[in-house]
Amino acid sequence: MHNERDIAAGSEYSPHWDRSRPPQYRPRRRSERHARGQSRGHAHRQSHGRGRTTHRGAATALVAVVTLLLLGAGAVIAVAAFAPVPVTVEGNAVRLPAGSTVARAVELGVARPQPGVVHAVDGSVIATATGAPGAVLVNGSAAALTTRLHWRDKLATVAGAPTTETVLERNVEVPYKTVKQGFGEKKRVVRKGKNGLKVEQYGALSGMVVSAKTVRKPVNKLVELTGGSAKSGEKVVALTFDDGPWNSQTTCVLDILDRYGIKATFFMLGTRVTADPKTAAKVAKRGHVLGNHSFSHPDLTKQSASAVRSQVQKTSAAIKKATGQSPKWFRAPGGAMDSTARGIVEANGMQVAHWTVGTGDWKNLGSARVVKYALTVKPGGVILMHDGGGDRDQTIEALPQVIEKLRDRGYRFVTLDQLPSVPGNGSGSY
Ligand code: NI
Repeated sequence: MHNERDIAAGSEYSPHWDRSRPPQYRPRRRSERHARGQSRGHAHRQSHGRGRTTHRGAATALVAVVTLLLLGAGAVIAVAAFAPVPVTVEGNAVRLPAGSTVARAVELGVARPQPGVVHAVDGSVIATATGAPGAVLVNGSAAALTTRLHWRDKLATVAGAPTTETVLERNVEVPYKTVKQGFGEKKRVVRKGKNGLKVEQYGALSGMVVSAKTVRKPVNKLVELTGGSAKSGEKVVALTFDDGPWNSQTTCVLDILDRYGIKATFFMLGTRVTADPKTAAKVAKRGHVLGNHSFSHPDLTKQSASAVRSQVQKTSAAIKKATGQSPKWFRAPGGAMDSTARGIVEANGMQVAHWTVGTGDWKNLGSARVVKYALTVKPGGVILMHDGGGDRDQTIEALPQVIEKLRDRGYRFVTLDQLPSVPGNGSGSY
């Protein structure tokens, strides 16, 4: 301890008492106290008698106060470090573990910032969990997850902004179909199939296709069946063309049939075969069935038997000469047939072939009408059209539609040879 003199002499430089401290903590010299004794308060005067011990006690008290303050500060720190943090979330009081951050509040489910709504490409709501993240507001401002929470902080949440799913693009192969024509056990691939390609735009989450653009159409595989006949009731139809050959028109019809891999039956006139044997030969070469349609298209019911015989035989001979084939089918001009004519036809090795649907195409009343009539056909039916006898542009215009629409309805195209039964009678419209 310091002696009196030390304190007195050292009052200006005491190692114990820093001069920067407030004056009440600085010990005073005795003379000073005596001189000021009268003006001091009662408590101060009481300490006079204790002398040196008073100074020592004051120092001890001060150390104690400081210690207490330090302990107090420590306690405050300890409280701050371990006591729950009271905050409000959307106005509700909640106590969070000491040291909690925004992330902790979210983790504990106290603050639940909702993700934004996600719209599909069609505008419908498809998801929320994957939406734009919501945010936690602390005292009104968006806070980072690492933000430490303090007493009485006010927490609130805002949902994420609404978003629309991403639109992606993909290439999609369009598989080709296998189209069978004709009937029978023998198969021949007329054309190989090739897949098409389209580019689709679709929603990444919903998978909804927004748009599809065809890059390449599929080419259907065509298989020709021969050597047999369809069964009764099967969806087959025979296309027949009368009054040719008629050069460019017949060739147009042949090209359309080739495009669809279809075989048809052509009832030729002897006059036309004689005039245009090359086109007649072309019809045969492309695999179609040939029929006899008389030589000069008279009404056979008004002809003598010998005239009918001449009409029938001259035509079969002309067809044989031009194409190498002997026709098996005979169709009377206008469908007009009697028992005499029928007998002559059958005696010459042919069967009479009528039709079930006349398209009236020779009337030139528009291709739409031709299509409309053709579509009335029933399974096993025979459709009558014309490649000769006049301008057949409307027939050529209608033919692809007739083929496609009937094919869409499940029909297969066959020749008369492949029909389960060929109508041998009838006098309906043509
Ligand atoms: Ni005719």
